[in-house]
Amino acid sequence: MRIDLVSIFCDYFAPLQLSLVGKAISSGLVDLGVHDLRDWTHDRHRTVDDTPYGGGAGMVMKPEPWGEVFDALVPADGPTPVLVIPTPAGEPFRQSIAAELAEADWLLFACGRYEGIDARVSEHARTKMQVRELSLGDYVLNGGEVAALAIVEAVVRLIPGVLGNPESLAEESHGSQLNGELEYPVFTKPSTWRGLEVPPVLLSGNHGEVDRWRLEQARRITAERRPDLLQFGE
Ligand code: ADE
Repeated sequence: MRIDLVSIFCDYFAPLQLSLVGKAISSGLVDLGVHDLRDWTHDRHRTVDDTPYGGGAGMVMKPEPWGEVFDALVPADGPTPVLVIPTPAGEPFRQSIAAELAEADWLLFACGRYEGIDARVSEHARTKMQVRELSLGDYVLNGGEVAALAIVEAVVRLIPGVLGNPESLAEESHGSQLNGELEYPVFTKPSTWRGLEVPPVLLSGNHGEVDRWRLEQARRITAERRPDLLQFGE
């Protein structure tokens, strides 16, 4: 998969060289490009923002540098990426969207700052490529970079060959084996720690009982923390 990230704070993406995503890059499973939006400005101050039409607080990202960087990265006659625009006004990002994005050959992230990117940028991009405006959650970050990092990590670990043990995907929170519910609690050695015992069923060696216990726990935790995720009627 090719992943391009456009930002005015490219240093945010240094951690992508670490851990599983870093390995996916060094092994060639992911081809990562990071691009400074200011390279597509033409004034002495490398200006990327301006005041909002209609008034109001803050600044808005100008459309021209975005148009130019997309033209440079996406030639008119070739394949097109899925353009991901992280924004608190986007569709809530979730595991099923990560799975859809993991099927793409090419993702291009447009990381806005300030009050966001002039709305014509996404409108124009939609005439050329698929566009996903995605929100990480109901809170406001200082820009799209941290959201892009999270989305890249969630997507890259779903690319075949990236995870050492792909079976772990099905059992984790939001995975298929738990009907999209939250994961059950996990334990490792020692069996007693600071007076706290591991639930005896996990030491029993009875796989049927263990599976039943884990499903019950997943259901209980999901009901407590995320009742909106419970699927009724089965
Ligand atoms: N940019 C600023 N806040 C954001 C959020 N919650 N999700 C995605 N992008 C953002």
